Amino acid sequence: MKKIKHFLDLDKISATDLRSIIDLSKSYKQGITSGQDTHKDKTLGLIFEKPSTRTRVSFEIAMYQLGGNVTILEHEKTHLGRGETISDTAKVLSRYIDIIVYRTSSAEKLYELAEHSSVPVINGLNDETHPCQLIADIMTFEENIGIINKKTVTWCGDYNNVCRSWVQAASIFDFKLHLACPRELIKKSEMKIIEKNKNIKIFSSANGACKDTDCVMTDTWFSMGQKVGDKKRNLLKPFQVNNKLLAIAKKKSIFMHCLPAHRGEEIEKNILEHPKSVIWDEAENRLHSQKAILNWCLK
Ligand code: CP
Ligand code: NVA
Repeated sequence: MKKIKHFLDLDKISATDLRSIIDLSKSYKQGITSGQDTHKDKTLGLIFEKPSTRTRVSFEIAMYQLGGNVTILEHEKTHLGRGETISDTAKVLSRYIDIIVYRTSSAEKLYELAEHSSVPVINGLNDETHPCQLIADIMTFEENIGIINKKTVTWCGDYNNVCRSWVQAASIFDFKLHLACPRELIKKSEMKIIEKNKNIKIFSSANGACKDTDCVMTDTWFSMGQKVGDKKRNLLKPFQVNNKLLAIAKKKSIFMHCLPAHRGEEIEKNILEHPKSVIWDEAENRLHSQKAILNWCLK
């Protein structure tokens, strides 16, 4: 029986496959691989329980550029939104469409959809992880700095879904990950995983974490669905990415942010326009890397 290739989390995919997805993303961008008509007559279904600009549009355009079709399923307008089970939905959708991107709240729901689906399922973000973002981020890092192995990446701010995918990546690729996150925001069970990885170091000061780094990165302090409040905001204030921090990082370092950004909160005003910022390339690279992810799942 044909093995279904789901793209769920980085720790479920071999290092060789991840490397080939990143390299294919670069080939799509450079036009070495056109992709035209690669997946003619295949249909991608996009299920979004949470808002999205980049993930939704980049997957949609990627599938069209590969010659396929797209159907967008607004969660609230489907029966999934009014209680039809995930397993029934997975079985029905598998009869119509060839591949599914699912953005949902919990990892459990994503894994349940994949378990009952007979077509590949891609994690389009959940509260735990955001692996598609990571593929585009590593691609952007390597375009600017070179192969990620032996380099240093600094994450400043909330210990969230994007950060967890970086933590998973640090177990696969041999680079140093500096985490400048308040310890209060990291669960004990997660702290154990971090402490076991010699490539990951937690810093109590953002300055220390940015010293000699190749890349400074951050994300919103309040992810979709999280309660916004001053207690968490005050914990995170010392980890805001500002001009001073970017000056501490290596001369040739880059700044990344998965977007959407909140100026004056996780970033000082104008940081997106800083000479070290590569955020628009990072956003563009979502398109090239989505094609590589779709191709890996469908081939
Ligand atoms: N970075 C990212 O996933 O953006 P969207 O929420 O707009 O998809
Ligand atoms: N951590 C953010 C990422 C958005 C792409 C969120 O989940 O809202």
